[in-house]
Amino acid sequence: MSEYDTSDVLVVGSGIAGLAAALGAVRELEQRERSEQASGEAASSEVTIATKATRPEGASSWWAQGGIAVSRDHPDQFKRDILTASDGTADPDAVDVLVENANDAVEDVLLDTLEVAFDANGDDLDFTREAAHSEDRILHVDAATGKHIHVPFLNYLDDHERVRILDDTAALELIRHEGRVHGAMLDSGGEVRPHFAGSVVLATGGIGELYPRTTNPDNATGDGIGMAALAGAEVADMEYVQFHPTVATPGEAQRASARGGETAEDDGDVFLVSEAVRGEGGLLRNGDGERFMPDYHEDAELAPRDVVARAVTAEREATGEVTLDVSPLEFAAEFPGLAQRCVDHDIDYEDGIPVAPAEHFLCGGVAVDDRGRTTLDRLYAVGECSRTGVHGANRLASTSLLEGLVWGLRAGEDAAGNGVEPIEAPDLLERDPDLPARFARDKMHRLRRVMDEQLGVERDPDELGRAMAMLRRLKGEVDAYVRTRTSRSLYELRHASVTALLVARHASENTESVGTHNLVTGEPAEPSAD
Ligand code: SIN
Repeated sequence: MSEYDTSDVLVVGSGIAGLAAALGAVRELEQRERSEQASGEAASSEVTIATKATRPEGASSWWAQGGIAVSRDHPDQFKRDILTASDGTADPDAVDVLVENANDAVEDVLLDTLEVAFDANGDDLDFTREAAHSEDRILHVDAATGKHIHVPFLNYLDDHERVRILDDTAALELIRHEGRVHGAMLDSGGEVRPHFAGSVVLATGGIGELYPRTTNPDNATGDGIGMAALAGAEVADMEYVQFHPTVATPGEAQRASARGGETAEDDGDVFLVSEAVRGEGGLLRNGDGERFMPDYHEDAELAPRDVVARAVTAEREATGEVTLDVSPLEFAAEFPGLAQRCVDHDIDYEDGIPVAPAEHFLCGGVAVDDRGRTTLDRLYAVGECSRTGVHGANRLASTSLLEGLVWGLRAGEDAAGNGVEPIEAPDLLERDPDLPARFARDKMHRLRRVMDEQLGVERDPDELGRAMAMLRRLKGEVDAYVRTRTSRSLYELRHASVTALLVARHASENTESVGTHNLVTGEPAEPSAD
């Protein structure tokens, strides 16, 4: 067999969920080794994190603004808020796991181990509120919480003697035999070789790159979901793609007019304006300057995210634009990072920030149980690429870092201690490494167009069959290339095409309009409340 590497646990991805899985695994391994040392049988074992991200900004967690919700002293209220935001579709057992473990996980890992300096008033932590939360329960650092968690977490594991972090390393394919996963084929800076592991934990994040406008970093191509689905793991709830309602769109009007009003292939120059801005009093106004959210929901700007995204879409269609009016708050003082970002993008925030919905988070993914176990033996999935059931059809704000942390720790602990068994690896090594750049660009362009037009905030049920047919054809064209070539961009395209087809298939199978899955025949959304 060709040369290979081994680890006790291989984690693919380096956002908070992957890092928590690595931490859970090393803690468990150390615990086992302490008992084995006592009995004289110690063997040292290792956890590898493979990440294609250019650290640390390549992980979605780094970009998280709002914060991380905890239960405080009202776990039942937190559970109710999650279930309500999901339109009653979240799995109550999964919600129990999240909420019952929230305070301990945050205290243990974020406060005690990493000493994250959350904003505080004197000795008291400052809890803020976001849409659809019924109390102030969100820990934050300014509106840039992700990086203040992610960087110390990465540094902590980088310094850990049992953790190896492989940068610029992508997983191309899982190595599987008879329902059990033995490792993955890794591309490290262009060199492809097998990596065998006792367990593999997928923590590859979301699918933002499948859409022209997204809050995700540009490597979010659905790799973990694509690989797991191709290996035969169950995937669920893929139709529930969450769009963040307030993403700043600098220069959008000029770009659209330069394109003659056409949809952009890649509206990359957008940035998230946290829900916390609405939590602190920001108001949404349409192109006529009118505040419209009270017409759509009794909680107005603090309605669940899917409701606000639909309303913003409808008002943009009806009146040309939507802006976030930040005059009710001390924007520059309360959100200095966001204020600076506006200035950097020539947005005069005192006139309102132009906003639009953008793909933000996939609520579905690889189906897992309460320890992150998939339906394949020794394969785990955590964070955004997984479907735990916590979010149902619509995720409550500031629960994604928490889900990644809680499930990451649990999965890592469970994944540790399985023996490594090298087997025959898939034959990817003999193929041509070059992929014509135009091939990848053209396919990605076609894919994004279908996702944007047919699988966005609004879906026309009559169009979903056509979307599936187009994506199936595209996947077939990519598969034909995969038989002859092995390049990272081709495999990303493969994972994107598999994942896009899953979104379309699940969307066409679900005939109920619920949460983020919003079926609209012809007519734009109407205000639903008096
Ligand atoms: C935000 O700050 O609005 C994003 C929070 C989240 O997605 O949970």
